[in-house]
Amino acid sequence: MSLLEANGIVSGYGGIDILHGVSLKVEPGEIVSIIGPNGAGKSTLMKSVFGLLKPRSGQVVFNSTDITGWSPDRIVHQGICYVPQTENIFPSLTIQENLEMGAYIRKDNFRHKLEEIYSLFPDLRNRKNTRAGKLSGGQRQMVAMGRALMLDPKLLLLDEPSAGLAPKLVELIFEKTIEVNKTGVAILMIEQNAREALRFSHRGYVLAAGENRFEDTSENILSNPEIGRLYLGG
Ligand SMILES: Nc1ncnc2c1ncn2[C@@H]1O[C@H](COP(=O)(O)OP(=O)(O)OP(=O)(O)O)[C@@H](O)[C@H]1O
Ligand SMILES: [Mg+2]
Repeated sequence: MSLLEANGIVSGYGGIDILHGVSLKVEPGEIVSIIGPNGAGKSTLMKSVFGLLKPRSGQVVFNSTDITGWSPDRIVHQGICYVPQTENIFPSLTIQENLEMGAYIRKDNFRHKLEEIYSLFPDLRNRKNTRAGKLSGGQRQMVAMGRALMLDPKLLLLDEPSAGLAPKLVELIFEKTIEVNKTGVAILMIEQNAREALRFSHRGYVLAAGENRFEDTSENILSNPEIGRLYLGG
């Protein structure tokens, strides 16, 4: 049984359909990348999985539960956390406050979890009383990821975690993503740094114009000359 299954998702804004029946799966423990051109509907798909958009048709099943049309709040309780493409931190709060916000639904003492996040991102521990708005792009992204991890998700959704970062920081964010995955968290991520992302993903999906264009193991996607030419910049 897959951890996440989206089947035939039709979704959009206002009266306009952006996704015309998109499907994907994430197995437990996997890293899966979604790639494709700007405007393909990648973020729309993620929002539809997380309940920020109600699919007009199709089904989202997580951990054998049909969560189609559920609110993000209920979906978080099921074990999915989402880091949006933009505005994914509270700039006026400190790093620590941001992380504590992430734990808002935890009923237990979350100090141990905070420690775990700080061991994963030592830079954040050193600056825990700094306002998040003062941080560099890379550090902000770590705060956003850390906040999502405060809730022990089974599946983490990352929308372009490396966007706008210098190459060294892209690498760092990807290393952290791999570390998180090694703790047993499955990851579904959207990436423009597609080649780099596919190198450590297990599988990938190419989305274009609101439709599934191609799906395979990362190895096969990377070695497919036509996909390379069309979607990976040659
Ligand atoms: N809130 C919105 N209201 C109306 N249209 C939207 C909204 N958000 C996105 N769209 C439109 O939906 C289409 C798909 O957008 P989406 O953000 O899903 O693409 P994407 O694949 O994530 O692109 P990018 O790589 O630029 O992030 C685009 O045509 C976009 O203009
Ligand atoms: Mg997007």
